[in-house]
Amino acid sequence: MSALRAPAPAAPAEPVPPAPEGRPTRRHLLSVADLDPAGIGEVLAVTDHLAEVVRRSIPRVQALRGRTVVSLFAEESTRTRLSFETAARRMSADVMTFSSASSSVKKGESLRDTVETIAAMGVDAFVVRHPAAGAPAQVARWVDAHVVNAGDGWHEHPTQALLDCYTIRQVLAEAAGVPVAQTGTEGFAGLRVGIVGDVRHSRVARSLVLALSMLGARTTLVAPGTLVPPSLEGWPVVGVSHDLDALLPDLDVVYLLRLQLERGTGAYLPSLREYTAGFGLTARRAARLAPHAVVMHPGPMNRGVEIADEVADATRSVVLRQVANGVAVRMAVLYLLLAGPEAPGADELGRSLGVAGG
Ligand code: MLT
Repeated sequence: MSALRAPAPAAPAEPVPPAPEGRPTRRHLLSVADLDPAGIGEVLAVTDHLAEVVRRSIPRVQALRGRTVVSLFAEESTRTRLSFETAARRMSADVMTFSSASSSVKKGESLRDTVETIAAMGVDAFVVRHPAAGAPAQVARWVDAHVVNAGDGWHEHPTQALLDCYTIRQVLAEAAGVPVAQTGTEGFAGLRVGIVGDVRHSRVARSLVLALSMLGARTTLVAPGTLVPPSLEGWPVVGVSHDLDALLPDLDVVYLLRLQLERGTGAYLPSLREYTAGFGLTARRAARLAPHAVVMHPGPMNRGVEIADEVADATRSVVLRQVANGVAVRMAVLYLLLAGPEAPGADELGRSLGVAGG
């Protein structure tokens, strides 16, 4: 099993603080900026309990029984859509699935009419993926339901960032020999993360940089000049590097981004081969990583381009763990949005679900 080095000096494991009485209800999760560090901590703490539920032989709880979640995806997706739909079902919510390819959008129906039509059927939450940045925020203005951004254009993908933080925290807990449910977010302080690749077109990078900086990690963007956003205003990073080889030995986490070829990334590169030569995580390059460092990727991977087969399948790769954790993190997000302010916070939820440590 891959492991991050425990932070030095090893921080004492702090129990997750109980959720405050009268927890504020959030209407939507449109951006990581809708959360503060305590809010991220709360999502991770609720996820701990739900991750235990997911490991049961019957991985289902009644927490969102009677609620309806619609997944409204106007852009391709495998893992995010399935992950959200699985998460909603495991919380016993009813799930409606909308896909633009098989809907009246094909007959010219506008997004607004589509959304208002679905809302009229009685929906508690919309999970929205759209090629246009800002589309989920627009949906939130049209309906009374809660809205979760499942990826909008180049803008944000907040649940991806949360599941990435959960995965890092899990690996840090293992390295420290502490049960993840007894870990806070202190291990992120000073953690050195390199986000490598097509930052310019990446909603994943934007959300992850925000979340990591809130938790105290030090993120460096690593990319050819053409794939760095033209302005880094609002990107809380420690720097930008064009030299992956030099940076690799200093990283605790190397996070590879997919080249977004469908968003025209090819026009920003001389060739894919040249990109791989400079920025692909080949087996030779991965050998430069510190023994404790882990490799992450949000998927789908362009194997042989940004990541070599041997690296994607190596023990230091936590790519499949990211996917597995995604379900529990999305259960937590749906729970925190939909269950209402009187619903149990993290500690009480653990007790009411009868999970260890709850
Ligand atoms: C996304 O939808 O942004 C994915 O999770 C990452 C990618 O497509 O590269």
